[in-house]
Amino acid sequence: MSKHCVLGDCYKEYCHHCFPVLNCKKHDICIEQGMFEEYSGYKFNQTINIVVTGCAGFIGSHFTEFILKKGYNVYGIDNLNDYYDVTIKHNNINILSQYNNFTFLKEDIRTTNIINDIKPTYVIHLASMAGVRYSIKNPCLYNDINVNGFYNILEQCVKNHVKQLVYASSSSVYGLNKKIPFCEDDAISTCNSPYACSKVAMELNANTYYQLYNLQSIGLRFFTVYGPRGRPDMAPLKFMSNIKNGIPIDKYGNGTSGRDYTYIDDIVNGIYSSMINKNDIQCEVINLGNSKPISLNTFIELCEKKCNKKAIINQLDEQLGDVPFTCASIEKAKILLNYEPKTKLEDGLQKLYDSL
Ligand SMILES: NC(=O)c1ccc[n+]([C@@H]2O[C@H](COP(=O)([O-])OP(=O)(O)OC[C@H]3O[C@@H](n4cnc5c(N)ncnc54)[C@H](O)[C@@H]3O)[C@@H](O)[C@H]2O)c1
Repeated sequence: MSKHCVLGDCYKEYCHHCFPVLNCKKHDICIEQGMFEEYSGYKFNQTINIVVTGCAGFIGSHFTEFILKKGYNVYGIDNLNDYYDVTIKHNNINILSQYNNFTFLKEDIRTTNIINDIKPTYVIHLASMAGVRYSIKNPCLYNDINVNGFYNILEQCVKNHVKQLVYASSSSVYGLNKKIPFCEDDAISTCNSPYACSKVAMELNANTYYQLYNLQSIGLRFFTVYGPRGRPDMAPLKFMSNIKNGIPIDKYGNGTSGRDYTYIDDIVNGIYSSMINKNDIQCEVINLGNSKPISLNTFIELCEKKCNKKAIINQLDEQLGDVPFTCASIEKAKILLNYEPKTKLEDGLQKLYDSL
């Protein structure tokens, strides 16, 4: 059977439902994948289905919007939990619901049947309990959602022959490692929070499902992601909006701790490359960072500069679960995913400021 583009704009001369074409150069998906979908008659809505878990969250909503714009059919699930203000998640869903090719289901990853029902080509699994500090108070919840929930996703991916699973891991797996930058083949035996342990468990399970069933997967270790619609429990959004509004910020430790802040658009591009997986990666974990860490003190100064206001600092001791430093080696991502972070911290913070 030949491969044709069947994306449609029916009855018009250029409608690919009605006039299927080989090697279509009209749509992003066709260009990137060499074709669209196997053509087997004049079927409507014959398109690639993708399941995105955690679509109402920060990274999930940005990624979902990105692929909706490319024309994919997206089934997004999220349980809309109240770990942070649920209105933020509802706003994200409202943005996504403006696209005809988006379907939202309020479902839990531990019980959903979405992959069995839809039989998607790709699964992008971003739903998790995120947040290091909360995991120290609620370790069982993190194990239940992040690890048990992942089993449900893995099982359904195998059963339905999902072509590519991409899932969110974290820089937290490097724990208290001292060697900088953090490389994917470094030992990950110094985790210092249940959250980090849950991400290590996810990686081990993805590897196990590849050994057992050849399930192709890429685990992405994200490094402190920031940008518009960011997570309100993370420093970038909290600091910028508090400084702007003259509200004190909590500063933990003496400010020498460092983070590798990564702009959301760069992360979205990395997730997309992993989904397309041009290099036919079988089962890997890959860092997605910026590889330019800065200290907390410098970060606060930058936020002050963007807000044109001095921060009111509430000085506190180091917190349990925080790691002293993160810095990604992105060599593997460059080679395997053609990943190249483009957004400088100053520019990304400006975009975040503009969105407040
Ligand atoms: N933001 C970062 O800097 C960062 C860094 C490293 C890793 N990560 C990982 O990336 C992923 C996305 O993170 P984020 O920052 O967008 O977090 P987020 O909290 O904004 O998004 C996660 C979403 O998952 C949903 N969710 C949680 N439990 C669920 C369940 N049981 N069933 C269905 N949905 C559920 C939440 O409601 C939320 O909308 C997470 O897996 C997180 O661990 C994020």
